[in-house]
Amino acid sequence: MQELEFRNGDKMPALGLGTWLSKPGEVYKAILEAIRIGYRHFDCAHIYANESEIGEAFQQAFKEGLVRREELWITSKLWCDAHQKEAVLPALQTTLKHLQLDYLDLYLIHWPVAYHKRNSPKDPIVFISLDEIPLQETWQAMIELKKEGLCKHIGVSNFSISKLQLLIDQFEVQPEMNQIELHPYLQQKEMLEFCNKQGIHLTAYSPLGSAAAEQKLEGSDIISLMKHPLIQKIAKQHQLSSAQVLIAWAIQRGTAVIPKSVHPQRLQQNFEASQTLLSNLSMGQIDQIDLHYRFIDGTFWTRDEGPYTLQNLWDE
Ligand SMILES: NC(=O)c1ccc[n+]([C@@H]2O[C@H](COP(=O)([O-])OP(=O)(O)OC[C@H]3O[C@@H](n4cnc5c(N)ncnc54)[C@H](OP(=O)(O)O)[C@@H]3O)[C@@H](O)[C@H]2O)c1
Repeated sequence: MQELEFRNGDKMPALGLGTWLSKPGEVYKAILEAIRIGYRHFDCAHIYANESEIGEAFQQAFKEGLVRREELWITSKLWCDAHQKEAVLPALQTTLKHLQLDYLDLYLIHWPVAYHKRNSPKDPIVFISLDEIPLQETWQAMIELKKEGLCKHIGVSNFSISKLQLLIDQFEVQPEMNQIELHPYLQQKEMLEFCNKQGIHLTAYSPLGSAAAEQKLEGSDIISLMKHPLIQKIAKQHQLSSAQVLIAWAIQRGTAVIPKSVHPQRLQQNFEASQTLLSNLSMGQIDQIDLHYRFIDGTFWTRDEGPYTLQNLWDE
């Protein structure tokens, strides 16, 4: 398994398992199956509302002797309703409690977006602008978590180059990871180059074109990534599935990749993709199908006349 090395020598397996939309009742089995297959990297988040069940699965795996805690790489993310400096530690403590862990390997600011805590998910969102709670305030609190040893590494997610630059310019402790949407329709070459230069790793989310793709592509003339003729042709040439081509492509670009599945056969298939190499020709051909197309385009942050726009979210 290819690994991404951090500045202190820690190594993260390039392939991880995504858990967004992995439903309660399904995710427990999926995690145990994934550990049996050989997955050692898991991508979680408080907002996925399944961390308790994932924690149960980890405990079971430890009890059965399938794996030891220190052999796993576990990532989670700080949700947008806990960006205030005093809210960051309690948010991580909740995640650790749910996951039944003493520490995370990586903790990320999930989005560069903040809003007030709600009593119920049905309550309207009341946004807080980045002028009111600057990203620097949240980042400083993340640094404290790392100092306390509650997470070994800290990073961000859905950050643009200019938002990364802001933290790089103002802090000695810099983001070690940016988790962003990355796949052949959204290759983000400038970001890849920038992060390579800065020593920041990238994790590719929605690498198969997202669990939300079908809904998003309805009525659009964009074909789903897995059905793209080029991806299918390369899959046939290499005797792989389309999903495997997409996973291998991400790893070959030097990023981590976190496809989600709850099905044993797909978990196995996706895992095997991490042992595959695509030809230079195939990599070059995939290069040509970039559309700068986002499945997770962030429009949900731009509603209710809040301070966020697509322009100030992505800075493009
Ligand atoms: N930081 C962020 O803001 C952010 C945003 C989005 C996602 N993420 C992370 O990235 C992970 C992956 O992204 P994603 O869940 O959006 O989408 P994805 O991994 O690109 O696609 C998942 C979809 O593909 C299906 N699938 C999985 N393996 C397959 C295979 N071999 N053949 C055919 N279909 C397959 C899954 O269905 P089954 O489960 O039914 O197999 C699911 O519907 C998430 O789970 C989450 O951990 C992070």
